Amino acid sequence: MVLPPLNLFEYEKQAQEHLDTAVWDHYQGGSDDEVTLRACRDAFAQVWLRPRALVDVSSCDLRTTVLGTPISVPVLVAPTGGQGLAHSEGELATVRGAGAAGTLMVVAMFSTRSLEEIAQQATGPRWLQLYVRSRAQTRHVVQRAQAAGYQALVLTVDSPRPARCERDWRNGFAGFPFGNYDEAEFIDPRATEGDKALIQDAVTWEMLDWLRSLTSLPIVLKGILTAEDARFALEHGVAGLIVSNHGGRRLDGSVPALMALPEVIEAVAGRCEVYLDGGIRRGTDVLKALALGARAVLVGRPVLWGLAVNGEQGVRHVLSILSQELETAMALAGCPGVKQIHSSLVRQRGTFGS
Ligand code: FNR
Repeated sequence: MVLPPLNLFEYEKQAQEHLDTAVWDHYQGGSDDEVTLRACRDAFAQVWLRPRALVDVSSCDLRTTVLGTPISVPVLVAPTGGQGLAHSEGELATVRGAGAAGTLMVVAMFSTRSLEEIAQQATGPRWLQLYVRSRAQTRHVVQRAQAAGYQALVLTVDSPRPARCERDWRNGFAGFPFGNYDEAEFIDPRATEGDKALIQDAVTWEMLDWLRSLTSLPIVLKGILTAEDARFALEHGVAGLIVSNHGGRRLDGSVPALMALPEVIEAVAGRCEVYLDGGIRRGTDVLKALALGARAVLVGRPVLWGLAVNGEQGVRHVLSILSQELETAMALAGCPGVKQIHSSLVRQRGTFGS
C-alpha cells in the first residue's frame, strides 16, 4: 500500500513513479549545469529564523491579499506550461485544486488547455502569464484573458532565448500540444534542436508601455533579479514583481531568487507588491521569504508533482501541506498572522550579509 505523502519531498518521489523519464526530466531539470537550480533550494538554508517566545499563537492567520484579491494562504500556483503531460485533465485539475485550497493560479500561456476552458473550471482567482512574441498575438491573447475574467497579466521577462535544457535534448523531449495557439506560430526559424519554444530577443522596456496601453489589467513582471530592473519596472508602471530565475531553467549561474529578494525589496520600497518563486518546498521556506519582504510566494514543480500523483486532489493536498507547515512554523516562531512577519524574524549569514 502506498501511504499518502507527508510532505512535498514525498510527493516528488511518488510523482517520479507516475511520469515517463522524458517528462520527469523536463519538469525537474534546469539549464546547463543546474547550478542555479540547486542554489535556489540551498539559499533557504542560508537564512535562519529568530523565533519570539510567549506570544499568543492560539490561532494563526494565514490570509492575505495579492493586488487586492483575498487569498487564504500566501502561496500561489506558479505558471508552468504543459500540465497535460502530468495528468489527463492538466490545467483544469490544477485550477480546481488551487481554488479548493483558497488560492490563486497563474495560468501559463503555454497551457495544454485553452485559457477559456481553464477559466470555466476555476473556483478561485487567476492571472495569465504571457510571453510576447508579436504584438498581434499579444493583443489577441490580452483580449481573450480580459473576456475570460483573468485579473492580472504576468509578463515573463527572463526568456529572450530558450536556454540549454540539455536533459530535454538528450531525451529528445517531444514537447506538448498548445491549448491557446497553433504551435507553428511560435516556432522560430532560427530554432535548433530542443529550441522549439519561443524567442523574444527583441522585446524591450518600451513594449511594456505598449502592453499597458492595451489593457487596464494590472501587469506583474516575472523574472526580475536586480534592483536596477526593479526601478525600471516601477518607472513603467508595473503592479507587481516576481523575483524569480524560472526555477533554475534560464540563465545558469544567476543569483538564487531568495538572495536577490532583499535588493529588490529595498529598491521597490513598498511601491509595488513583490513575490518570489524558486525552491519553495516547506512552510519554513515561505516564512523566510515573507520575512525577507515577499508578499507571497509561488510554487511550480510541487504543484506538478501533486497533479501527477492525484490530479485535482493532489494539487489541493500539496497546497494544503504547505499551508499547514506555514501555520506550524508561524506558531513556533511567535507570529500570529502574516502581517506580523517582518525582517526581524530572520538572521542572514554569509552572502546575505550582516
Ligand atoms: C516553468 N516555469 C514557467 N514560467 C513561466 O513564466 N512560463 C512558463 O511557461 C513556465 N513553464 C514551466 C514549466 C516547468 C515544467 C517548470 C518546472 C517551470 C517556471 C515557473 O513559473 C517557476 O518560476 C518555477 O517553477 C519556480 O520554481 P519551483 O517552485 O519549481 O522550484
